[in-house]
Amino acid sequence: MAQIVYQNEAVVEETDLSLSLLDVSHKHGIPHTQACGGNARCSTCRVLVLENLEHVCPRNEAEALLASRRGFTDDIRLACQSRIDGDVTIRRLVVDDFDESLVSAETPMAVGRESCIAVLFSDIRGFTPFTERTLPYDVVHILNRYFQAVGDAVIDNGGVIDKYIGDAVMALFGLAGADPRTTCLQAVRAGLAMRDAVREFNGYLERVFHETFAIGIGIHFGPAIVGEIGHSAGRQMTAIGNTVNVASRIESESKVLAAELVVSEYVVAQLGDAVRTGQSCTTNLRGTSGETRLFEVLSLAGEPAGVGDDSIHAK
Ligand code: FES
Repeated sequence: MAQIVYQNEAVVEETDLSLSLLDVSHKHGIPHTQACGGNARCSTCRVLVLENLEHVCPRNEAEALLASRRGFTDDIRLACQSRIDGDVTIRRLVVDDFDESLVSAETPMAVGRESCIAVLFSDIRGFTPFTERTLPYDVVHILNRYFQAVGDAVIDNGGVIDKYIGDAVMALFGLAGADPRTTCLQAVRAGLAMRDAVREFNGYLERVFHETFAIGIGIHFGPAIVGEIGHSAGRQMTAIGNTVNVASRIESESKVLAAELVVSEYVVAQLGDAVRTGQSCTTNLRGTSGETRLFEVLSLAGEPAGVGDDSIHAK
């Protein structure tokens, strides 16, 4: 006999351990969704195994195939394919018609997965006063030219522009599952290319609008939940988690260091001698526990120092 705890729903005891978890649910009156009739073709019966995953039989071929296509972690199991040999605690993940309609619009990325990525944030220093002294149409024109320049730097280095937040850019690296060193290398290369792109862009800005931009860039590497999020009519791929928050705070911290490109110790640890660093500091980033060491990045070993002088710092 085994006890099955359905989190927030019911606790049942089952003596027939030849039944699938889906059959157990139906036997005990739990309204478990089964859009494909229990044939490992839909995933609407999926459950999250919260306790005693070792009491759930290994995935069969059909479940393993679907799990890999949808990017399920080990603790997400198809109830119609899973049998147990002891107590388990589970949570049904598709509990009503609304959930079912969301599932039917799901792509593999909508399921979400945790992976280690590099997150880059950039910001134009003093942007608000700039908008106050500049005509609105000119602001839009200048911003679009700016986003084109820094966006190319991200895309050319294997990154994805996640979103624009006012004048800020959030970009992600390593979504395709590259190894950590390659991921960090791409992100830092993109950061340096953004820095150089802004230095070049400033020639145009100075000539036409008598203005120049200074930017701050922050990069952090760590685990994040990556997936498509939003209304089913327009979901967008994004990353969520502390790694994103920390990257944003490192960008803010670049103001304090008066540096254009600042990365966390986790990025530097992946790159070793490949990165040439300048100033560094140890700081308590808001919202994080413990201290984080931050480094200004000047260049990558064996690559040109960049447009202009390395001593040019953001203000
Ligand atoms: S009911 Fe469709 S996969 Fe289990």
